[in-house]
Amino acid sequence: MSHESPASPTVTIPLLQGWAAEGRKLVMTTAYDSVTAHLAEAAGVDIILVGDSVGNVCLGFENTLPVTMAMMNHHLDAVARTKPKAMLMGDMPYLSYHLGVEDSIRNAGDFIRRGAAAVKLEGGAKRLPVVRALVDAEIPVMGHIGLTPQSFHAMGGFKVQGRDSEHAVQILEDARRLQDAGCFSVLLEGIPAELARRVTESLTVPTIGIGAGPHCSGQVLVIHDVLGLLPGKSPKFVRRYAEGFDLLSEALRRYSEDVRSGAFPSDAESYSLPASTTRALQQWQSGKPHQE
Ligand code: KIV
Repeated sequence: MSHESPASPTVTIPLLQGWAAEGRKLVMTTAYDSVTAHLAEAAGVDIILVGDSVGNVCLGFENTLPVTMAMMNHHLDAVARTKPKAMLMGDMPYLSYHLGVEDSIRNAGDFIRRGAAAVKLEGGAKRLPVVRALVDAEIPVMGHIGLTPQSFHAMGGFKVQGRDSEHAVQILEDARRLQDAGCFSVLLEGIPAELARRVTESLTVPTIGIGAGPHCSGQVLVIHDVLGLLPGKSPKFVRRYAEGFDLLSEALRRYSEDVRSGAFPSDAESYSLPASTTRALQQWQSGKPHQE
């Protein structure tokens, strides 16, 4: 019996790697709940990342550092329940892979048990022991280098990385070492396009870029950025494909106006009472005994 539906197969790592080898660009977005997962799935994205950006995008934190495994699991569960065909990936939050290999396997394994097919973690050469241990435990890993948001304090904020030759070489080396340690893909964030091109050309596994120019094997954006759901200006690397915030806040403004004016709900949006119940209620309210 075949497990593959020819129409749209569940996206697997070999499929992704095959597509990238054929030159087909890979599409990845974040999702944090069943609504955003259904949106990403309906659009046919290849990879859904339950990103630790849930911290700043959905939970009101200033950066991703306060995000815990418990928070991530809560959001991953919501996305996994939608059973996407896109490959589901869990983002390892701060301190979930810094305290030793066993702890990292337990946390990453938790994501896999909940329905993720892979995990992503930040950092270059210093993460090699953890990457090797996860891969040994049959947990596929996407590396993440360049601007790594969990290094917010060490980097002194969110700054483009790899502009000077020393750091550019370090990024090239980190990418190759992550690949050699078993990463099936490497995410490049916030680095010059020319450097991302060189990294992509030097690897056999696909690269996914965010703020890393057009030469990567694929691209990822936060879904709220693609949809323009957040108020205020977007960063330079974001392209908004909708003005979701304006569109949706205008819809809510019209709803408020209709509630206040009495235009909502209409009869068509209300449930009716059968005539016999209306008569019985009238009699009961006027104090007469009810006759069927
Ligand atoms: O958490 C996140 O959204 C990320 C992005 C870089 C895709 O890691």
